[in-house]
Amino acid sequence: MIKGVIFDLDGVIVSTDELHYQGWKYMADTEGIYFDREINERLRGVSRMESLEIIMEKAEKPYTAEQKEALATLKNDFYKELLATKLSPADILPGVNDVLAGLKAAGVKIAIGSSSKNTPTILKQIGLDKTFDAVSDGNNITNSKPDPEVFLIAAEWLGLQPEVCLVVEDAEAGVTAALAGNMKVLAVGSAATDKRANLVAADMSMITVEQMINL
Ligand code: BG6
Ligand code: MG
Repeated sequence: MIKGVIFDLDGVIVSTDELHYQGWKYMADTEGIYFDREINERLRGVSRMESLEIIMEKAEKPYTAEQKEALATLKNDFYKELLATKLSPADILPGVNDVLAGLKAAGVKIAIGSSSKNTPTILKQIGLDKTFDAVSDGNNITNSKPDPEVFLIAAEWLGLQPEVCLVVEDAEAGVTAALAGNMKVLAVGSAATDKRANLVAADMSMITVEQMINL
């Protein structure tokens, strides 16, 4: 029986894919580095600096650590501007609000487990900043997914053992992280074909609270 559900943020609660893509595209175009949507797919669930390293595979010259920091900041400043001007509650993904309300009504604790350092800004922008019992994100971890740290901290903050927690993820690295942390996984969106998941769904409107908690 599941007592807590830990949600990844980007691609599970809210669609930020396009804004991340535009941010990285702006950085890559500024530097003359080739970048496309296929490469963008590889950044799902991956931390900001690891994402930069993936994009840098196409760079034609080496970059120092300071230059890389500056490029990550360039992307993030552009991305934050997009979050402030383009993101709204309308970007909450299908079924999410109903599932969150259903879990609360069933007495199940809910948390965020996200690699993003922009988590507080995003939650505020979509009106969900007071919704979760715990928020574990890129600001409180030292190891990114596929390391389970972000989910283990979320479970601890919920006061629950990992075994009674269900993680909802859209990224392969996130599914790996949840299983490494001894949690159950519901894989959605791009991860919905992942055979390792305990449950899969195209999106959150295709799953019931009963299915989630009776695992
Ligand atoms: C994850 C996204 O949630 O957060 C990744 O799936 C992103 O694409 C990562 O790189 C880090 O986000 P941020 O907001 O800290 O740059
Ligand atoms: Mg995600």
